[in-house]
Amino acid sequence: MIVEDIGDQVRRVKTGVSGFDDLVEGGFPEGFNILVMGLPGTGKTLLGQEFLYRGALAGEPGVYISLDMSDAIFRQQGDEFGWEIERLEKEDKLSIIKVPLDRKSIKLFDIIGEEVNRIGAKRLVFDSLASFSINIDQFEVPLVYDSEVMKVLDSSNMGDKELFYTGNSKQRMTYLAINHLTKMKTTNVIITDQISEGSNSSIDGVSEYVCDGVVCMYNELIGVKHARTMSVLKMRDTNHSPYVHNFDFNNGGISVKPAETI
Ligand SMILES: Nc1ncnc2c1ncn2[C@@H]1O[C@H](COP(=O)(O)OP(=O)(O)O)[C@@H](O)[C@H]1O
Ligand SMILES: [Mg+2]
Repeated sequence: MIVEDIGDQVRRVKTGVSGFDDLVEGGFPEGFNILVMGLPGTGKTLLGQEFLYRGALAGEPGVYISLDMSDAIFRQQGDEFGWEIERLEKEDKLSIIKVPLDRKSIKLFDIIGEEVNRIGAKRLVFDSLASFSINIDQFEVPLVYDSEVMKVLDSSNMGDKELFYTGNSKQRMTYLAINHLTKMKTTNVIITDQISEGSNSSIDGVSEYVCDGVVCMYNELIGVKHARTMSVLKMRDTNHSPYVHNFDFNNGGISVKPAETI
């Protein structure tokens, strides 16, 4: 069973990533927004992709939204780990959306919502808020979240200008974006960049406050070797691990190690 009712009213969504679920009492609370934050190359995209892959294998469809890289790379990366991405795509267990950033007025959350409904997605990965923030001029983000409210506003002949955020605050846009992802009713992994080494702040400046959980990923230079580590900084409703955990990439994906407590 992929979602476990543990009796305290919190239903947990198992990531299926080796060793990870032990850090968060068995999985992410269902419907939460989990921020995965780190510097480039720390493994954020891979963690998100494995969350979707393991879910899809267990019968929970997932949508991957890429604002960063080509959809071919997910398939290629999957091949490295022996993941059957294309089969799962054909079965509508996995959907990869590559958002074209070469046009204006992209109604990103309509695109995402349609795909979530089409495959009945339970999981969603947004990769990334950092890229969303950089390309912010390309998107239209509705100011209201409720489709019924939208209908009323539409029928009242209000122009698009009143319905969409047209200000220039990136933080406000990012805040609205996270709210729209919450409305999808999926369990969301939202990826963003850490602002600088040694800081636990995001580059977008909002997501770590708004999201229900924050997982930080690091790539630390120790002697002559980079050590990959991760820690759970925040997870509402969860007695999560307070430790920094080593992880590596084995043949099948990410493998998180128990904490080395001395
Ligand atoms: N098959 C693999 N085996 C070992 N390491 C890998 C493998 N695939 C990717 N990596 C490592 O993961 C890094 C990329 O991870 P990624 O999730 O794309 O990072 P991020 O999204 O944080 O920028 C690569 O730079 C590489 O170091
Ligand atoms: Mg990435």
